[in-house]
Amino acid sequence: MATRFDPAGPLHGDLSPPPDKSVSHRAALIAAMGEGETEIEGFLDSGDTRSTLTAIAALGAEIKHGGAAMARLSVRGVGLRGVREAAVDVGNAGTLLRLLPGWLAGQERGTWTLDGDDSIRRRPVDRIVEPLREMGARLRCRDDRLPPLRIDGSPLRGISYELPVASAQVKSCLLFAGLLAEGRTKVLEPLPSRDHTERMLAAAGASVERSEGAVSVLPAERLEPGEIVVPGDFSSAAFFLVAALLVPGSDIAVCGVGLNPTRTGLLGILERMGAEIEVEPGPPAAGEPGGRIRARATELRGVEVGGPEVPLAIDELPLVALAACFAEGETTIRDAAELRRKESDRIATVSEALAALGARVEPTEDGMRIVGGDGLRGGTVEPRGDHRIAMLGAVAGLASREGVEVSGMDAAAISYPGFEGDLASLLGG
Ligand code: S3P
Repeated sequence: MATRFDPAGPLHGDLSPPPDKSVSHRAALIAAMGEGETEIEGFLDSGDTRSTLTAIAALGAEIKHGGAAMARLSVRGVGLRGVREAAVDVGNAGTLLRLLPGWLAGQERGTWTLDGDDSIRRRPVDRIVEPLREMGARLRCRDDRLPPLRIDGSPLRGISYELPVASAQVKSCLLFAGLLAEGRTKVLEPLPSRDHTERMLAAAGASVERSEGAVSVLPAERLEPGEIVVPGDFSSAAFFLVAALLVPGSDIAVCGVGLNPTRTGLLGILERMGAEIEVEPGPPAAGEPGGRIRARATELRGVEVGGPEVPLAIDELPLVALAACFAEGETTIRDAAELRRKESDRIATVSEALAALGARVEPTEDGMRIVGGDGLRGGTVEPRGDHRIAMLGAVAGLASREGVEVSGMDAAAISYPGFEGDLASLLGG
């Protein structure tokens, strides 16, 4: 069924975005590794994070829900070394697919398989398989790079591993494996990527050492996460920040949003585009900085995006491309070939979607070139099951001249089940 998003009046008011997806995945996994009960405040209730809860329950963790939806969860962990054998369905969750094997690979004994939906079966795991094997892990997968992934627990040894591409998923997987390996496990990153795992493991008592360009972990006897507070998801808030910039007369604020600098690269890019954005940091919650962001409609200009800011804005680059259609002049996104390995090939899906709405956009090997200034006519967006493309289509519709029809808006529920309701509230409906 298609959902229509017509050109709409200004967006106004305050919004609290849903809890962070990346932090929620890690909270559930680290709580499952923990001893005793971990309280998780503000767990995201979405398709992807439900897959993680189902996974940890299959592995032996006990989950109690408290209050509305999953606003408060209590998880009784199995401990680092007590994992029950299971066939794990990761659904559509790439983060779960890449993080969980690190923990399972180091179990003394047992066999696990990880598999998921059609889209997950196209998402490569070679980047984790290679270093995990170097640590001594026993793994098998289809064509040596695709799920299903079979893991046979075995003793691991710590290694020093240089990531070929900055990836928080690969880094996190190796840090989990390092908790069970002999000796130190060190991960060197070509560029910084999101660091939620490092923060959360350190808070749970693991010995995590960070230096410029590297993070290392020592084997741990036990983890005691205690309480984890999940901040609002910057990546979800980003849809409304960009909507407010593009729809004339808008003025909104997102509150209680995570402001971890390894996630907020979009803000620097939008500021260079001339956006009127104000950030008010609030008190950090459980090791993660947070606060409030105000965004007002602004005339934007084209920008060059590349280098270190790419991993810090990787999930928001589709929104940069959308904003670029409305910005005066040319925008170039480079060094972002990683976009081809997301829920869809986002270089292809974003350029096709925007071109179908009237944009002058050209995909390149590692990004996109967009000639802006004319805005968007409107038309139809096919998200192909990719949640971020569905929400991109909705924002494009509000800012377009003729409206946008999104076929398969339900994909948004992978990360943001309340997206349409929150949008309606900012539109005063
Ligand atoms: C994520 C890391 C990113 C991001 C994904 C979530 C995470 O992937 O695109 O949506 O939670 O670690 P990579 O770090 O592999 O680029």
